[in-house]
Formats: sequence, structure tokens, C-alpha cells
Amino acid sequence: MGDVQLQHGNDRATWLDGSAVPCSLGSGHPTRVWRLVLLGAPGVGKGTQAEMLCTRLMACHLSTGDIFRAAKNACGCEPTAAMKSALEYMRRGDLVPDATVLDIVRERVGCLRCGGGFLLDGFPRTVAQADTLAGILLKEKIALDAVIDYRLPIDEIVSRLSGRRTCSACKAVFHVTGRPPRKSGVCDHCGGMLVQREDDRPEAVRVRMEAYERSTAPLTAFYKRLGVLVPVNADGSPEQVFERTLVALKA
Ligand code: AP5
Repeated sequence: MGDVQLQHGNDRATWLDGSAVPCSLGSGHPTRVWRLVLLGAPGVGKGTQAEMLCTRLMACHLSTGDIFRAAKNACGCEPTAAMKSALEYMRRGDLVPDATVLDIVRERVGCLRCGGGFLLDGFPRTVAQADTLAGILLKEKIALDAVIDYRLPIDEIVSRLSGRRTCSACKAVFHVTGRPPRKSGVCDHCGGMLVQREDDRPEAVRVRMEAYERSTAPLTAFYKRLGVLVPVNADGSPEQVFERTLVALKA
């Protein structure tokens, strides 16, 4: 998998590749450890904020979408049948079945135990996933500090998705107008080629939005009941949203 293992200072190899790959994060963890979940519709800016938050809070960015994309791009080995089926769901914009996602997360439970903390992005996405996560955390005696719920009107979300470009090598995220690279089509971080994600096609975006409304939106009530929901307005520049998130976390 090589090129997606290290991203902006976080060692995500164990998360992306599964438990067989040892994590190279050693000691030297921050004094304040953060354990967060990012919620919000597709394209609201979770991945962008995750990059910035992980650098600032020194927590690891754990994205389930990145696991699937990494498996798809892994060279030299054929994906398993379960992974092939997951990639087909993803291509259409549908949610991958809970059983597959939960198997993948259970294999990586060591990342949740990590002393450096974590930032879950794209998981949980259904009430069944949230229930399972709650069970895992209870068993591990780990508490979530907050579940950040990014909110933005749908027309702005669609514009963010249609302009998104992702580095084919290091997976850094740009936007053709909102967060343009210094050189068009080329990643600022590693010089890789910027590409459009397959599930950012209009027909897949429609399916993703429906899946979000049906399956993921109910999680706001779930986490509100637990007293950890932190709503954040995702309008404005990435830096403005980042500052707003830090203020909300401090509060
Ligand atoms: P996943 O990878 O999790 O995608 P997603 O939730 O659809 O979220 P996105 O990555 O599309 O958007 P984002 O909110 O991270 O926005 P970004 O920061 O890139 O999941 C993909 C698929 O995998 C799912 O559809 C499903 O099939 C499967 N899957 C994954 N997890 C699963 C699970 N738990 N259960 C079942 N299935 C699962 O920003 C978007 C664009 O906007 C970028 O171009 C960015 O530069 C730009 N932007 C960001 N912030 C701003 C801003 N403030 N101003 C202007 N532009 C901005």
C-alpha cells in the first residue's frame, strides 16, 4: 500500500492495512488525549477538518472510507470477496453493509486503544454501528470526548463534492476553487496527480445523500441523548470551520 500509509504526520498504516501491520507511533503522546467522532453529510468537510484537527490534537485520523479506498488501490494483492462487494456498494454511493464494516473495525480495535487518541471519520454511520462502537468502547473502558456534527445547506455540499480533487498518491484533499492546489492538477504535498473520486459523480452523490438522510442522520439524536453531541456550523473557509471546532471543543 506504501503511499497511503503516512499522511501529514499520522501513522495510519495499522488502520488502513489491518492488524497485521504494526503501528510505528511510539511514546511522546500529547498531554491531552482526544477521542472524537466526526458526523456530517458526505462532502460537508469532515476529511478536511480531520486532517487539520489531527495535526493540532495529535490524534490519529481513522476513516472507514479511506480503508476501502486503500484496499482498492493496494497493489500486488487481490481484494477479498467481501472487500470487492464493499467497493461495489461504495462505487454506487450506497453504504457498505454493517457486517462488513464492523468486521473491518473489530480487526482494528487496537487503533481505538491507542494512547494518542483518535478521530473517527465516517464511522459509525448507522445506529447498529453506533451501538457496536458503544459496546467496544465500554469493554475497553474508553469514553468519547465529543461527537462533532458538521452542518451545512445541501447546495453548498453539492458544490464542495463536485469540485473536490484528491491526490492519487498521498490522498490529500483539495477543491478546485475553495482549496485549490498551487499548481492545477498537482498535489502540493507530494506532487501526485489530483483526481476526482468515482463516488463524486452526480448519480452516486444522490444515492449517498439519501443513504445519509436514511441511516446516518438519526445518529445525531443517538449522541445527543448520550450528551456528547457538539454541533458545528460548517459554512466558511476550512480555517474558519477549524477555529469554530476548537472553540466548540473547549466549551
Ligand atoms: P467516506 O470516505 O467516509 O466519504 P463521505 O462521508 O461520503 O465523506 P466525504 O469524504 O465524501 O466528504 P467529507 O465530509 O470528508 O468532505 P471533504 O473534507 O473531502 O465514505 C465513502 C463511502 O465508503 C461511503 O459512501 C460508503 O459507501 C463507504 N463507507 C465508509 N464508511 C462506511 C461505514 N461506516 N458504513 C457503511 N459504508 C461506509 O470535503 C469535500 C470537498 O469540499 C473537498 O474538495 C474540500 O477541499 C472542500 N471543502 C472542505 N471544507 C471546505 C470549506 N470549509 N470551504 C470550501 N470547501 C471546502
